[in-house]
Amino acid sequence: MKISIIGTGYVGLVSGVCLAARGHQVTCIDKRTEIIDQINRQETPIFEPGLEELLKEVIAKGTFIASTDLRSAVMNTDISLIAVGTPFGNGKIDLTYIENSAREIGEILKEKAQYHVVCVKSTVVPTTTDTLVRQVLEASSGKRAGEFGLAMNPEFLREGKAVEDFMYPDRIVLGAYDQQSFEVMKKVYDGIFDAPIIKVNLRTAEMIKYTANALLATLISYSNEIALICENVGSVDVKDVLEGVTLDKRFNPVIGNQLINPEMISYLRAGCGFGGSCFPKDVKALASFSEDLGYAPRMIQTTLDINETQPVRIVERLEATLGTLANKKIALLGLAFKPDTDDIRESPSLIIIRELLNRQAQVYAVDPIAIENTKKVVGENGMLLYADDYQQALQDADAVILVTSWADFAKIAPDEFVKLMKTPVVADGRRIFDKNVLEAAGVQYLGVGLA
Ligand code: UDX
Repeated sequence: MKISIIGTGYVGLVSGVCLAARGHQVTCIDKRTEIIDQINRQETPIFEPGLEELLKEVIAKGTFIASTDLRSAVMNTDISLIAVGTPFGNGKIDLTYIENSAREIGEILKEKAQYHVVCVKSTVVPTTTDTLVRQVLEASSGKRAGEFGLAMNPEFLREGKAVEDFMYPDRIVLGAYDQQSFEVMKKVYDGIFDAPIIKVNLRTAEMIKYTANALLATLISYSNEIALICENVGSVDVKDVLEGVTLDKRFNPVIGNQLINPEMISYLRAGCGFGGSCFPKDVKALASFSEDLGYAPRMIQTTLDINETQPVRIVERLEATLGTLANKKIALLGLAFKPDTDDIRESPSLIIIRELLNRQAQVYAVDPIAIENTKKVVGENGMLLYADDYQQALQDADAVILVTSWADFAKIAPDEFVKLMKTPVVADGRRIFDKNVLEAAGVQYLGVGLA
């Protein structure tokens, strides 16, 4: 198939490169010339394992180009995938970029005789595709939906695993306006990707995406709530509790006696909360969208509330342990919202930094690749400094908080805490250290969900 992709952000670029790798002819479109030039120089503007190698491959193979020329892309392809940003601001999802893209595509479709499918890939609140996008396309093209195709095909990519997730999806959700739209979209995936294709209407596709993210986020907040109960009970480890729960076959499908995927319930893991560009934004957007429809969600709201307070609690627990945090040197291991990314959007580290600074602590933060991004958001001053490596951060610290489960931090030897720190107190926000091993070395260990 010949496919245009509008927007070379995370979803757009990964989808473009992967679809080209699977043999489709892809043109990625963006207004930002510098990004297009960068991509055509075979460099990826985002950090994503495996993406740059694949980009080089598809450019060499001739199945992928990046361009600013939307008109020629739409005129010469069968499908336009809209993968522009849908930021959350002022308590609502902002659909301006979606609307603009639909208008620009529609104006080109006015002149195009051949059938063309417009497919939304960005995460949008239910009804966006069959109302806003359809109306804008109809008004700008002068055609009725049906004369052009309309589809909604959400992405379930995780940062750091985006290429793998795209190439080996669990399912393809295809929301279609009519049968013809579905048939065209099916050709993108059928027999090319090894996954079931789920045919639904446009708003069901949109709803599946939000429901998936809200469920995973809710599993995390649920785990964090159980962790708090465990801390109060004492001598109970939330990790053991959740493992004991998830081995239930009702969570984990089995073949014979073998669990298909023991990692499947991995979102039942307590810690200092979820962050990133998707979960917080999408769960908030779903809540506010539903509220506008007349139902203020309760469970989803609680998921968000628990996630706001979870990073605060780790600071409060440390404060209770040390007596005060004022003028204490606190090392912060990890700034990224999860390992293997430099993304700090909505990272629990930002809340932890705010809470520590509010208590007049001196923060010494370290992260393998996310320091530059953090400086851009919260700056750098006498009370908030950045270390070159974890040894420097730990030097003479009164306590350390582990925020991101980077593999390098998990390897820190227990006696390094004892040797380097003034007082070896470790607050483990991701439960990557072994309490017994650390305590045997003389470390005071505070683990989420363990007291
Ligand atoms: C998520 C969804 O997984 C993906 O399907 C969707 O398309 C986009 O949002 P991503 O934001 O890349 O992907 O991150 P993910 O790996 O799912 O982790 C999200 C957050 O949850 C991280 O902050 C992580 O640390 C946290 N988390 C995850 C937990 O706190 N506990 C867990 O058990 C799992």
